[in-house]
Amino acid sequence: MLMAGVDVGFGFTKATDGESSTLFKSIVGEPQPRSMEDNFFSSEAIPGLHLTVEDRSYFVGELAESESRVRQFTLDQAQMVTQHFKILALAALAKVVPSRVPVNVITGLPVGYYMEYKDKLAQILQGEHKLLIHDSSQGNETVLNINRARVIPQPYGSLVDYLFRDDGTVLRADAARQKIGVVDIGFKTTDFTVCKGFRHSERGSRTTDTGIAKAFTYISEALNDMSGVNVEIYRLYDAVREGSIKIRGAEYDLSKVKGEVFGRLATAVASDMERVWTDDWDLDIVLLAGGGGEALFEYLKPLVRGELALLKTKEDPRMANVSGYVKYGRYYYDGSVMKEA
Ligand SMILES: Nc1ncnc2c1ncn2[C@@H]1O[C@H](COP(=O)(O)OP(=O)(O)OP(=O)(O)O)[C@@H](O)[C@H]1O
Ligand SMILES: [Mg+2]
Repeated sequence: MLMAGVDVGFGFTKATDGESSTLFKSIVGEPQPRSMEDNFFSSEAIPGLHLTVEDRSYFVGELAESESRVRQFTLDQAQMVTQHFKILALAALAKVVPSRVPVNVITGLPVGYYMEYKDKLAQILQGEHKLLIHDSSQGNETVLNINRARVIPQPYGSLVDYLFRDDGTVLRADAARQKIGVVDIGFKTTDFTVCKGFRHSERGSRTTDTGIAKAFTYISEALNDMSGVNVEIYRLYDAVREGSIKIRGAEYDLSKVKGEVFGRLATAVASDMERVWTDDWDLDIVLLAGGGGEALFEYLKPLVRGELALLKTKEDPRMANVSGYVKYGRYYYDGSVMKEA
């Protein structure tokens, strides 16, 4: 059976079948009529998609960011589940899963919202979804045939990616017996979880809102004071990475404010870590995951006692969860678990 993972984060939506993958910003927008058919310069397509789901059309990803007049982006979990998850997840899956071929899908939720929404997400995904993908003027009909859908806590994706092989068998048996803490820093949420010998610890698991968006909100306010322009936080990724931004012709240096706010954010994450893991002083290793994990690693390292390792299983750190979801799917559906059941 074909297997696919989809990770709908507050910053980015990621999907893979273990081979091909897609990644775009978690933005949904109104489609715009096209007045010109041609792409005048042959360049790479904008990440994202124009699709129709249940008779409504959307632009998603960077296509929505750059073209839609009305764009939606959320940092609210309930709104994500009820309004955006389906569109973003189906758009991403349509990029990696062939039409009409049955597939099992694994997705995730922040640990703090797992019990509340896991059945809902599985129910949203499961079944047959007829989509129109508008990459030609008529649109191509794509049918996503989702046989089974399973939801796991998001940081388990990164943990599985670290511990398992692509075929769903265990790669690092010694590490798997150890007590591992995972910190997954995303755009909105930071997830903490503890696992020992594949046993989940409820006590060591928590979701906080110390994500990168906190730092971006502050940077956006500082930019507003300086330039008078309100820069939406999802337009700051490249600027913050590069350390400067150009607004209406003027260049603003972001390196100082970035250092300050990332430093403060790292302090907040480190103190959450102390609090959440007060009784878990016997962790063998702490794995730092998520795109935000990479961004904060240098700031966080001096603040954490014990071994803190940046998860480097994938070239792009944002892909670790979803890559682990596929491995988990192979383990769960193809491997020992379902055969025993
Ligand atoms: N190439 C890149 N472009 C943009 N952001 C990047 C890149 N590489 C790393 N990042 C960092 O990754 C962060 C997003 O990480 P990630 O995709 O793990 O979050 P998310 O899963 O969407 O959010 P959440 O887990 O809160 O729902 C950004 O805030 C940024 O700091
Ligand atoms: Mg995430």
